[in-house]
Amino acid sequence: MTGYRTARCRACLNIDDLRRMARRYLPRGLFDYIDRGTEDETALRRLRQSFDGSELMPRVLVDGHDRSVGVTLFGRERPLPFIVAPTAAAGLVRYDGEVLLARAAHAAGIPFCVSTQSITSIEAIAEAGAELWFQLYVWRDRSLTHALLDRVAACGVDTLILTVDTAVSPKREYNQRNGFSVPVVPSLRGAVDVALHPAWLYGVLLRLLRAGGWPGYAHYPPEFRTRITDAGTHDRIRLCDRVNWEDVADLRRRWTGRIILKGLLAPADATRAAEAGVDAIVVSNHGGRNLDSAPSPLTVLPRIADSVGNRLTVLADSGVRRGSDAAKLLAAGASAVLLGRAPLFGLAAGGQPGAEHALAILRDELDRTMALLGCRTVGDLRGCT
Ligand SMILES: Cc1cc2nc3c(=O)[nH]c(=O)nc-3n(C[C@H](O)[C@H](O)[C@H](O)COP(=O)(O)O)c2cc1C
Repeated sequence: MTGYRTARCRACLNIDDLRRMARRYLPRGLFDYIDRGTEDETALRRLRQSFDGSELMPRVLVDGHDRSVGVTLFGRERPLPFIVAPTAAAGLVRYDGEVLLARAAHAAGIPFCVSTQSITSIEAIAEAGAELWFQLYVWRDRSLTHALLDRVAACGVDTLILTVDTAVSPKREYNQRNGFSVPVVPSLRGAVDVALHPAWLYGVLLRLLRAGGWPGYAHYPPEFRTRITDAGTHDRIRLCDRVNWEDVADLRRRWTGRIILKGLLAPADATRAAEAGVDAIVVSNHGGRNLDSAPSPLTVLPRIADSVGNRLTVLADSGVRRGSDAAKLLAAGASAVLLGRAPLFGLAAGGQPGAEHALAILRDELDRTMALLGCRTVGDLRGCT
């Protein structure tokens, strides 16, 4: 990372500035894959509209000099109500991207959730010293999923996020147009796209190729570990559209640690999750990347929080670009917020310091929002809706 780039990245004043830097650094195919939604991108627009259309009511003349953005989550005090969300293939954004994200999370004192579909293995990421959570996609062959869980547990991970909103791959037409869908079909357009982004070409792609050839998904069993650009994941490790509440019950029997279901939006599903004995849920529409008609988490959170009471912990994500967005999710009933694209934009813009900067921006904005609202604790935000 050049000092010049780091300095430019540190000069970014908000997440949108980091996004613009990320856009310049990454080939278009990769940037769009991170940035965009699905189908007509209605869910993505709805996310922004829901934050912009929601107000927070300030209380004045509150002495807030000792306010804190810290929270206690799962019995542990944390300096921030954030978790770095699982994002597939973050190792393509920067060389060793997943490790850099984990280090940034560690520096901020928050957990980093490793994706099933990361380029770097959980064993290697563990060396970053961060508190790691693991995100699970259930594969068709359950015995392979169970073997993966053993691997994850052996790394000392005690918090598992089961993603339940991705029964099939969503339809992302821009990936096809950009030649970024799987399998990657070599094209002049793709070659020009990469050639026009030499910093990424030399800093990421060529380094990955020198280090061991085309990257693959590090959690796939070795016999099925194809190149990330190849067609057809083997049938046994395909996304499974038969996952149901029985799988949750099975997981509850097998996994002795914490289980979090990610991707719920219906209050009835949240109640069912509480009955299934999971510890927490993430109210999420996957950052507007899956079901294009899905509601925004902000609009359903109050009903969900009411319906589950204190039977489980409610987390939320999707669309957070400002500290005030996070404040709104916390005010609407979330105990903490997962961040997907914001740290990824920071990572693309400036590596680990860039990801740290993204978290620092959101921390600062949340703190200012709380001060202006007259909130001394994150819990006080509940009264502001
Ligand atoms: C590039 C990218 C890859 C993602 N990969 C995964 C994944 O592998 N597993 C998962 O559960 N969620 C995945 N997500 C969704 C995030 O965990 C999170 O729900 C979402 O990004 C939150 O919205 P935000 O990006 O607006 O913060 C991904 C999101 C992005 C942007």
